[in-house]
Amino acid sequence: KIRLAIFASGTGSNALNIIQYFKTSDVVEIGFVLSNKQDAKIVNAAREQGVEVVVVSNQEVEAAGKLVDLCRENAIDYIILAGFLRKIPEQLIGLYPDRIINIHPSLLPKYGGKGMYGANVHKAVLENKEKVSGITIHFVNTEFDKGEIIAQFQCVVDEGETLESLQHKIHLLEHANFPNVIKNTIVS
Ligand code: GAR
Repeated sequence: KIRLAIFASGTGSNALNIIQYFKTSDVVEIGFVLSNKQDAKIVNAAREQGVEVVVVSNQEVEAAGKLVDLCRENAIDYIILAGFLRKIPEQLIGLYPDRIINIHPSLLPKYGGKGMYGANVHKAVLENKEKVSGITIHFVNTEFDKGEIIAQFQCVVDEGETLESLQHKIHLLEHANFPNVIKNTIVS
């Protein structure tokens, strides 16, 4: 089977959705979930699904060694970033060229780069009165948010859209599309 590691920092709704999607797959399986936050919701949620969870410190993420060892020991083929809000160390990117897939809550190259993550993105989209927003699924390279785009999906930003309503729309778009795009990208 093709083995995935999922990195997540927060609620982990995408991570959980991916776990559930591949639960009965004959082709893809989850090796482990990695989080840089002990109290992230995903830590318990993934464990409840019977998935191994590893919690690391931000220093360990930066130092890369532990991440590299974990991926090697678990024979990981692809790394999925599902709301992982730390920079991926170059050493890991070097070991997994075109094998790290990120989801970003905007239509890149718009609203990408430093400081642009999670709710910050939606705030900026609303402030600029954008009429459309969406999500980008892309490979990770050493240039932040600039790796090759695999797929994008759009949604309308309505009159009177709020931060919460936009965030909800984007999450629905992510849940509907991310697992499937992962599958189509890694299973040839
Ligand atoms: C998602 O909307 C994802 O696109 C975003 O964080 C959210 C995590 O939600 N990622 C980034 O901003 C990466 N730069 P979740 O924890 O419920 O999956």
